[in-house]
Amino acid sequence: MNIKNNIPIIAIDGPTASGKGTVAFSLAKILGWSILDSGAIYRSLAFFIIQNSISYTDINAILSLLKTLKFSFHSNNIHVNSLDITEKIRNEDVGKLASIISENRIIRDSLLNIQRSCIQEPGLIADGRDMGTVVFPFASLKIFLTANIDIRVERRYKQLITSKVSVNISNLRSAIIDRDLRDTQRVVSPLIPAYDAHILDSSYLTNDETVSVILDLWKNRHY
Ligand code: DC
Repeated sequence: MNIKNNIPIIAIDGPTASGKGTVAFSLAKILGWSILDSGAIYRSLAFFIIQNSISYTDINAILSLLKTLKFSFHSNNIHVNSLDITEKIRNEDVGKLASIISENRIIRDSLLNIQRSCIQEPGLIADGRDMGTVVFPFASLKIFLTANIDIRVERRYKQLITSKVSVNISNLRSAIIDRDLRDTQRVVSPLIPAYDAHILDSSYLTNDETVSVILDLWKNRHY
């Protein structure tokens, strides 16, 4: 593991639509740190699998495809091979396939170095499912962000509508419940809080309130 030990990392894990992305973005802005949206990497890979008509069961073809993809982050946007695909990866079809391929250990292992190479001065906010448990177990602060299902459906609905993606709310609810099940019950790197994570329920907190709780934890940490 080539880890840059002295650079602080705040790991934020949690289920889909728990508000991680917005919270991570605000924290990165306030602290002046960079940000890793690890879900965007899984989504980008899923997007190119669809584009290339590759079957999600054909792991060799997926690994060959992965070798041709160069990921880079520009503020909150993800570029693959210099193409900004941020908007293209936000629909639920891509999210579902991202969740399906993320069950595979070889694919997950192949994405580890890409994620770890995002560590840079003065610090990194890492958002995902296994940031605190697998990718950055040595993170300086670990947050497990949750919110109840109704609130998460509402948040994702608003997000999709704002991005002009048409969506049926009851299909969206089922898709989120399916994704929760797949992400929490997979064998490899399931979505679970790290033993040393702070569990934070953001159901009735605004983004600013959630950010302020995390900043307090960061300032008052004893390690
Ligand atoms: O956070 P998101 O909805 O953009 O992530 C899409 C899927 O990618 C998620 O359902 C599971 C997978 N994922 C993962 O397995 N591990 C991560 N660290 C991030 C995402």
